[in-house]
Amino acid sequence: MTVQNKVALVTGAGQGIGRGIALRLAQDGFDVAIADLDFQKDKADSVVAEIEAIGRKAIFVAADVSQRKDIVAAVDTAAKELGGFDVIVNNAGIAQVKPILDITEDDLNSIFRINVHSVVWGIQAAAAKFEELGHGGKIISAASIAAIQGFPILGAYSASKFAVRGITQAAAQELAPKGITVNAYAPGIVGTGMWELIDAELSKINGKPLGQNLKENVEGIALGRIETPDDVARVVSFFAGHDSDYVTGQVLLVDGGMLYN
Ligand SMILES: NC(=O)c1ccc[n+]([C@@H]2O[C@H](COP(=O)([O-])OP(=O)(O)OC[C@H]3O[C@@H](n4cnc5c(N)ncnc54)[C@H](O)[C@@H]3O)[C@@H](O)[C@H]2O)c1
Repeated sequence: MTVQNKVALVTGAGQGIGRGIALRLAQDGFDVAIADLDFQKDKADSVVAEIEAIGRKAIFVAADVSQRKDIVAAVDTAAKELGGFDVIVNNAGIAQVKPILDITEDDLNSIFRINVHSVVWGIQAAAAKFEELGHGGKIISAASIAAIQGFPILGAYSASKFAVRGITQAAAQELAPKGITVNAYAPGIVGTGMWELIDAELSKINGKPLGQNLKENVEGIALGRIETPDDVARVVSFFAGHDSDYVTGQVLLVDGGMLYN
């Protein structure tokens, strides 16, 4: 798929899945705003350079996605500096690895602010910008296999991703009359910093050696290998482009065959 003169903003794009999505959208023809926390600037600048090497425009915008004002400002900056606004990918998120009985109020507040509030703020900021520019657009958010099924020791994370699924379905119906589609991607086990953390924390809890929890989870994947950011990015490319114009409110599993719904 190729597009012309279109602009996408990807949150959490300094590394991992977000970086893969940003690079793929650039290959598709998008100019891309890389939004991430300020401390990720060096990594984000490298992604910007990779995109420029592909021949597209890119900028880094510092933003904490849990803060509504940061997302609104990031969307404004992207539109102003890149000359339009067509797609937002609400990708940034964190994991928490804790038994339900140990979860604190601070844990819940922090994971919901980063994984859930961010999606609402992203939807609001993008929809307002599309309206201002007089056209529709595409809103795409990060769900997970944990949005379809609750996983033990990932209870708060599962709850946050179930919430992303609910918001996606509701927003799709509310925003369809404005020509906006709202979808989400649900990866399985992607080899990023997030799974390094999950593996390390699970091993503290269940005593298995480092790497063992990841290995056992990957063994359960029908297609027989760990997922890459590019596997996810190809689904996001579909949601960002015209081929998905008649698709909205969907949470698409891209997990190599782990869950079936
Ligand atoms: N890795 C997996 O197996 C997996 C599976 C399913 C879903 N996901 C989801 O995919 C998304 C990306 O995950 P990843 O594996 O690339 O994680 P990652 O930890 O490798 O990268 C996350 C990125 O988000 C950024 N980020 C974190 N908090 C932020 C905040 N408050 N504001 C702005 N940026 C922030 C980080 O700086 C980082 O660049 C997340 O929403 C995650 O829940 C990941």
